Amino acid sequence: MTWNEAYIMKIFIDTADLNEIKEIASWGILDGVTTNPTLVAKTGKSFNEIIDEIFKLVDEPISLEVLSENAEDMVKEAKELVKKVQEKYQKNVVIKIPMNSEGLKAVKKLSKEKIRTNVTLIFSANQALLAAKAGATYISPFIGRLDDIGQDGMQIIEEITEIFYNYDIKTELIVASIRHPIHVIDAARLGADIATIPPEVIRKMVKHSLTDKGMQSFLSDWKKVKK
Ligand code: E4P
Repeated sequence: MTWNEAYIMKIFIDTADLNEIKEIASWGILDGVTTNPTLVAKTGKSFNEIIDEIFKLVDEPISLEVLSENAEDMVKEAKELVKKVQEKYQKNVVIKIPMNSEGLKAVKKLSKEKIRTNVTLIFSANQALLAAKAGATYISPFIGRLDDIGQDGMQIIEEITEIFYNYDIKTELIVASIRHPIHVIDAARLGADIATIPPEVIRKMVKHSLTDKGMQSFLSDWKKVKK
């Protein structure tokens, strides 16, 4: 049986840490990068330095967040970012817009100008539906933060996938705020388009103690083979 890569859940890395992006991109399994102001702050670098490096490293969709609070300023900030990235790197950026009424207005305007958006801080299927109606390219429901407050984050992924399927909605669903490898499995079982995963969770996905144990015994047995 052959398979089509386009049908496999895409993996984005959720970090602004350039070393992690570089290393995990080298494994050949990355389809994009998402960042947010907290992740950029953690690096201790300026936003401009981060942009410079990330666009050199990765050719896949990269989401950068605007910080304005009203629609007009969000659109202005988004357009400046798009222009800068296109002029400097000849690449397209995905603009992360917060989920609120100003964000919806901004997404509507940007989608008319064919600027890709990722509506972030989504915590309900209603918010996802509205963001899709406004023309979002991507939506990012934060499942880990729902789990943190005792709500089942994966439940909204189930609801959103059902609604998007019912109406053949083209907005891509990014499962975000992933905390552990089981979140990734659940996202894939529900048919999510994308999971954006912190580097430490991607590393956990690679490992299994039985793989390491098996490898050790193969290597030591190989030493016993007659040369
Ligand atoms: C997604 O785009 C966000 O950057 C991210 O997944 C937030 O995750 P957190 O809840 O671990 O901060």
